Parts: sequence; structure tokens; C-alpha cells
Amino acid sequence: MNILTLGHEGLRHKAQDVTRIDAQTARLVKEMLETMHLGKGIGLAATQVGILERIFVVQIADDIPRVFINPVLKGASPETSVYEEGCLSIPGIYADVKRPEMISIDALDEKGKPFHLDADGLLARVIQHELDHLNGVLFIDHLSELKRKRIIRTWEQKFKA
Ligand code: NI
Repeated sequence: MNILTLGHEGLRHKAQDVTRIDAQTARLVKEMLETMHLGKGIGLAATQVGILERIFVVQIADDIPRVFINPVLKGASPETSVYEEGCLSIPGIYADVKRPEMISIDALDEKGKPFHLDADGLLARVIQHELDHLNGVLFIDHLSELKRKRIIRTWEQKFKA
């Protein structure tokens, strides 16, 4: 699958709830996981491959691949942490982002089965990053305007080179 990169309008669109989970959904999820692994990423949202459905996949080291369909954030800790994030849609760019340290989330798996997950550390961070994607939000949106503009300028220079 082709991953949209910074500047593509599709990354700014909001995804819609999935209304039917079927064989097509299973195929999409499989392709998303393959695309994520190929890009050596730890998370990928459907909006990044031009599909406006509320689906994302994550897999951090030593963990199983996790599929989230129609995810709903149920809670976030007041404690925050700062960690350097990157994104398959903005390759080569990394920046420190502050986010809640722990979250709890409800979603459906690829078979349509509901589950609840409490996550912390890197898993909590990736989940929040991917949830943002479903709302058309990128990690650079969490930075100061100055930093964001600098990153976009660096990106454009790289892109043109
Ligand atoms: Ni991303």
C-alpha cells in the first residue's frame, strides 16, 4: 500500500466508523500490517493509506500485532511523558512530543469482537499517535508553531532535493 506523506490533504481528513467488519476488513488489516512492517513502523492508521475508516494497527517490539477498529479513548492519565516520535508519513523527521503516560481504550478487533485495553509506555504512546491520525492530526501538530514550521521547511527542502 502507498503511504501518504506530509502535505497530502488525505492525512488531514477525519475517518468514519466502520459499519461492517467482513472479509474485506480482514484483507485491509492484513495489508496495513504488511505495509507497517515493510516501512519498519510500529503503527499505521487507515487514513495514512488513503482509507477514511477508523482502523489502525500497532506492533511494538516483543508484543503481538494489535488491531483497533472504531477505537474510543476511555481515559488518559494526568501524568505525562515526553518521547521522541516519528511517523511513516513524515519519514526522517523526529521530535519530542508530550502525551499522557497511560490510557484506556475500547475498540473492536479484526473479527469485530469488542475489547478493552489499558496501556502505558510506548504502547500507550503509539495508540495515541494513531488515534490522532484518525482525526486528521499529525504528531507535529503537538509542537510549538515555530518547531512545526521549521520541520515543514526541513521536510520541503528534503522533498525537493
Ligand atoms: Ni504517524
